[in-house]
Amino acid sequence: MKLAQLIAQTGEHEATIQVLCHLLEAERTNVFLIKDISESVAKEAIKIIDQYKKGTPLAYLLGSTYFYNRKFIVTPAVLVPRHDTEVLVELAEKKIIADSLLGSENPTYQILDLCCGSGIIGISLAYLCDWLHHNNRELRYEITAVDYSPEALAVAAQNASLHHADINLVYSDLLEDVHGKFDLLVCNPPYVRTADIGVEDKWVLKEPHMALDGGIDGLYFYRRILATAKKHLTTHGMIMFEIGYDQAAAVEQIALEHGYSMVKVYKDLANRNRVVTIRV
Ligand SMILES: C[S@@+](CC[C@H](N)C(=O)[O-])C[C@H]1O[C@@H](n2cnc3c(N)ncnc32)[C@H](O)[C@@H]1O
Repeated sequence: MKLAQLIAQTGEHEATIQVLCHLLEAERTNVFLIKDISESVAKEAIKIIDQYKKGTPLAYLLGSTYFYNRKFIVTPAVLVPRHDTEVLVELAEKKIIADSLLGSENPTYQILDLCCGSGIIGISLAYLCDWLHHNNRELRYEITAVDYSPEALAVAAQNASLHHADINLVYSDLLEDVHGKFDLLVCNPPYVRTADIGVEDKWVLKEPHMALDGGIDGLYFYRRILATAKKHLTTHGMIMFEIGYDQAAAVEQIALEHGYSMVKVYKDLANRNRVVTIRV
């Protein structure tokens, strides 16, 4: 069967390409060069895409997805990584690089990935930290990743092992069982308003509720974290939150109420507010 025929049959262009990459263990560009897709592969692809069309995220069906150009294990215990979160990783990388010139009051630069889920943020940052350390042995980094779901932490552990990332995994209700001061606290908390969950997107209904539900106004986790985070930050420490596109003003207000000094808002590729950075 030709690729065009298979796409016509599934009615799903992008999903078909992704499924074929997975089944044939092929690079995306090579999928377009395949002259003939075998009957058994086409049958399997159609079966997977049928389940996808019924509302199961493709990442769960394939067991993995790509984030920041790297492959991560994904199960129904974790949120499917979103490309929007790459904005947060890019900003975190810039801060880590800038701080590598300034130094830290900690002997080892401390990074906290709070609400880590599959571990994509902390593990992506581990690549940069390893590279910086490799180039200057005096620079040392420690990454701690926290979640309140043991199942999510198990997936994060698998991903850390897959990527040879040396990360401390901690089971904690937000910062309750977290100790020490951090130079950088990155966090993509649950921030969807309870009533909005699954309204725009049926696939979201298969994701863990606790990875999405930010309470009535979506701000529950920002309030809780900002109420206690200050004592976990170094003098030049920074919090970086992913936010919903319409939450910047509210999160800034909460930060100011808790006495934080500087809040900056950054946009995603669709020009929507996506990240806020907050300083002590
Ligand atoms: C939006 S997901 C983010 C996952 C991952 N960081 C990402 O960007 O794909 C939020 C995560 O927060 C975790 N979580 C929910 N309540 C929590 C709590 N009280 N303490 C710590 N983590 C929590 C969920 O289990 C979920 O993994």
